[in-house]
Amino acid sequence: MGNLVRFGISMEAGLLRDFDEFIKKKGFKNRSQAIAQCLRDYLSQALETIPEAVVTGIIILVYNHEKRDLVDTLIDLQHAFVGNIISTLHVHLDHHHCLEIIVVKGKTSDLKELANKLISVKGVKQGCFRVVSPVQDE
Ligand code: NI
Repeated sequence: MGNLVRFGISMEAGLLRDFDEFIKKKGFKNRSQAIAQCLRDYLSQALETIPEAVVTGIIILVYNHEKRDLVDTLIDLQHAFVGNIISTLHVHLDHHHCLEIIVVKGKTSDLKELANKLISVKGVKQGCFRVVSPVQDE
């Protein structure tokens, strides 16, 4: 953990009340811990808008594996971006559906290109890309 700095925050009472309820539900020990985590999450997500930023992320796909040519297309795309893929988790959700979580690393622009190509394959029912890069504490 980096050097701790204290600072004051002013906000509307209703917003603080909602935030305190959020803190309680999530199980944070205090406001400082919750605010720090919210900021890290926000800053990590903000990296998604910087094309040259090198980040770690996940691509989540849900698809029907019975769809013609779908699996071949997904595999071809992943091989085309092999340098960006760290690992893939495949779960057979039910008789028809598969969940795939692809852990990726590289320039945001490349990862978004891969994610968009995968998510837009015909037969993919749900998909998203999320940056999960840790944000520096110091
Ligand atoms: Ni499957």
